[in-house]
Amino acid sequence: MQPERLIIFDTTLRDGEQCPGASMNNKEKLEIARQLSLLKVDVIEAGFPVASPGDFESVRQIAKEIKGSSVAGLARALEKDIEAAARALEKAESPRIHIFLSTSKLHRDHKLQKGKDEIIQMAVDAVKFGRKFCDDIEFSPEDASRTEPEFLAEVVEAVIDAGAGTVNIPDTVGYSVPTQFGQLIRSLKQNVPNIDQAIISVHCHNDLGMAVANSLEAIKEGARQVECTINGIGERAGNAAMEEIVMALKTRKDFFGVDTKIDTRHIITCSRLVSSLTGFFVQRNKAIVGKNAFAHESGVHQDGFLKKKDTYEIMNPQDIGLESSELVLGKHSGRNALSKKIEAMGYQVTQEELDRVFAGFKLLADQKKEVFDEDIVALIQKRKFTDEELNTYTLEKVQGTFESGTTPGATVTLKSRDGKVHTETGQGDGPVDAMYNAIDHITGMTCKLLDYQVMSKTRGKDAQGEVTVRVLHENREVLGKGTGVNTVEASAEAYVNAVNKLLVKTKSGPVGGGEIQGP
Ligand code: KIV
Ligand code: ZN
Repeated sequence: MQPERLIIFDTTLRDGEQCPGASMNNKEKLEIARQLSLLKVDVIEAGFPVASPGDFESVRQIAKEIKGSSVAGLARALEKDIEAAARALEKAESPRIHIFLSTSKLHRDHKLQKGKDEIIQMAVDAVKFGRKFCDDIEFSPEDASRTEPEFLAEVVEAVIDAGAGTVNIPDTVGYSVPTQFGQLIRSLKQNVPNIDQAIISVHCHNDLGMAVANSLEAIKEGARQVECTINGIGERAGNAAMEEIVMALKTRKDFFGVDTKIDTRHIITCSRLVSSLTGFFVQRNKAIVGKNAFAHESGVHQDGFLKKKDTYEIMNPQDIGLESSELVLGKHSGRNALSKKIEAMGYQVTQEELDRVFAGFKLLADQKKEVFDEDIVALIQKRKFTDEELNTYTLEKVQGTFESGTTPGATVTLKSRDGKVHTETGQGDGPVDAMYNAIDHITGMTCKLLDYQVMSKTRGKDAQGEVTVRVLHENREVLGKGTGVNTVEASAEAYVNAVNKLLVKTKSGPVGGGEIQGP
């Protein structure tokens, strides 16, 4: 018997991006959408178009470019939201409008102050209004898992009658446990007369660490769409992790009997891209994509593994795209070889970006003995995701003293866009602090460093370090990045990157005015 197909709805760019500190610019979101499309995700939820002009534009760009996956835009059950989503999705090959409205008593009484009848009417009106623009409407009764089951069934029946082709059941606050959540799906299948006319979807949050387990239980009970994010990022403790769901279904097809269209070989690239662009690092022991997920440490395990790998390994690392990281290019490699490599890794670069990546590659090949795939990815990201034309400052030089027993000091030289060269010195608790103080003296801004992390991109003592900083200035928080073999210089670069973002980032209001609260 052919396994049934599960629709993978990715919400990394909406629910994932919505969590504090994960915001990305439109270029970065488009890059992730391209990777999601290579993964063969069925639906990409690109954003919440009414939330801000930036969100609107990002959904519009993704809708225009992405082929082969549906592109969804989120909307509250309000005409202005639905219109904004429809406009943003105008150019999509396969658009979907995702409408949500809270249904639980708690949300009805306290958030919306509306009775049950009003909620049903709003939901039905919204779905009918959405159908004027788009045939593919998804409806989510927010906080479904805490909604009275009879009322939930009423809402679901009404929205299907009104024209929703997908009904998504969110465990909005991650309150459910697997058996209970599975039962909820079963009860909807049993008690909603028109349920066969719609796909049941689930959207589980991870507050109690059960998002993936709840989603899998729902699949067993007949859910045929799962909403998830790469690396499980999302509001609070996050959403169900796509890679875990997909690999669980692939590895335990014998048990679930359900298949996805996902090309799992792109999982690791996608995971690393999302981690790098959001600054949300993946824990080492994270299932599927953690650094240790395929590492065997204990002697007994290693012995068994070497005799027969199935003794301790239930998945092939190659299936998620690992171990493709051979030594790729050397300092004599040409532009053509680099361009082919970039293409094979699923990245798209313009001619100008390729020129810059190539220049960076030549410098790196001189500094480093071996250049790996991850090095190339770091160069692409470095060159691609910094709007160099918008940079107010570029780093020219850093010098530092950090002798034991003395106060560390640093001298930093920055060049501003008008060509002027500025040099300042600073002191601090450590060399990085000293450098950042020197940069603050040049820019005249006093920034607060919220987070500072260095990660090695590849292997060996000469590996490139990727420095990520989170910087706060006048209530605005931005992420800055710097990469290089010289991690002290990369630290300065990361801070300058953050400062440049602070200098160009403008606050954008919602499309159509009014304060927009994320779901
Ligand atoms: O968690 C939630 O309920 C949501 C809905 C908008 C689906 O994100
Ligand atoms: Zn959510």
